Amino acid sequence: MDHFQYSDGMLLSEDVSLSDIAEDVGTPFYVYSNATLERHYNAFAQAFDGLDTMVCYSVKANSNIAVVRTLARLGAGADVVSGGELKRALAAGVPANKIVFSGVGKTTQEIGDALKLGIMQINVESEPELEVLSQVAVDLGVEAAVAFRVNPDVDAQTHAKISTGKSENKFGIELNRIHEVCRKAKDMSGIHLVGLAMHIGSQLTETGPFREAYIRMYGLASKLRAEGFNVERLDLGGGLGIPYGDNEGPLIGPVEYAKIVHEVFDDFDGKLIFEPGRVIAGNAGVLVTRVIYLKKGATRDFAIVDAAMNDLTRPSLYDAFHEIVPVALADDNAIVPYDVVGPICETGDTFCTQRNLPLLAAGDLLAIRSAGAYGATMASSYNTRALIPEVMVRGRDFSVIRRRMEVDDLIALEMFPAWLSNSPD
Ligand code: LLP
Repeated sequence: MDHFQYSDGMLLSEDVSLSDIAEDVGTPFYVYSNATLERHYNAFAQAFDGLDTMVCYSVKANSNIAVVRTLARLGAGADVVSGGELKRALAAGVPANKIVFSGVGKTTQEIGDALKLGIMQINVESEPELEVLSQVAVDLGVEAAVAFRVNPDVDAQTHAKISTGKSENKFGIELNRIHEVCRKAKDMSGIHLVGLAMHIGSQLTETGPFREAYIRMYGLASKLRAEGFNVERLDLGGGLGIPYGDNEGPLIGPVEYAKIVHEVFDDFDGKLIFEPGRVIAGNAGVLVTRVIYLKKGATRDFAIVDAAMNDLTRPSLYDAFHEIVPVALADDNAIVPYDVVGPICETGDTFCTQRNLPLLAAGDLLAIRSAGAYGATMASSYNTRALIPEVMVRGRDFSVIRRRMEVDDLIALEMFPAWLSNSPD
């Protein structure tokens, strides 16, 4: 359930009409509901009764510092994958000792910064990374708390571009090598093994892959412990899928997910870390856009809107389905199949094709739902379209949490080389 509901024919976020926000900040914009973020976080965090757990919100899903702070205030730690995300998590108020750093390509600089800050854990994804980590830790005179990210070779049965747990994927260390790597790590200075990590993919809609991967993780952890290795924490990653609309299969709720975790890890004596992203933020946000033109093509009706693939790239990148609804409900029942498209000069700039929507008029507002995760964070300025504002609603209040970028902000980052510095004659 989310807090985007109609009242008197108008779509509200909590108690605020989306058309009022549009009046105030202009379109397009992202809007997030505080109550939905809180509800989703609490539903997840409270699902694991009796287990020693910690939730490290996956910042990549929605990294706005106001979103991260909202979750941090509820007790969330953070899963970060770059020095930039690390900086954001800290700026949002997440304590360093609740931050996990994942990612296949951490630079020496990023590793050094993370170690200086004393973050909770670094998830190491390769042997070369382990060597750099050891060197940097020794140079700084600290011990790095390390979990090895295991690649369990399990098919997450999700979109190929967001599947991460198969042996051909770039992520993690092959399960069969983990023993060897742990032995190696034992003799390395600056490395303190704390556990294992995994993340097999995103938008999982079946329980099977989670169960399979977790059983492998449990088996590996038990063997390592039997050999005297310190496996006090298991980081089980994120990945829970969310409903995007009426074309989704059965989904896994936090309670069903927690059941699998209980089944596999009930007698694991240690901490379980989770890195949910989409399941917290996805349905807590919508992208509001205005119809610029209605164009009758030879075979299609196009609704050309002011948001585009640079603002929300999921439909063009993954052929993702996002439900699209009018902000104001129409009085009549006329339904028209529209292609809702943006202004960018690519056919891929299409939010949906042949989608039945109420009869639209230029100027109408539409809400593209389930856009709270991997929406604003994946936006670009392609076609020199400046990044759009983000707004957070709480009850009757709303607040801009990222101002609209100006094209001048973009151009200000650029400069001429000396040989072009004179204006053309
Ligand atoms: N942990 C790690 C190490 C990850 O790589 C990810 C996501 C997560 C946690 C959070 O996964 P979630 O709970 O959100 O599924 N841009 C794509 C999704 C990419 C996910 C990348 N990693 C999309 O729009 O569908």
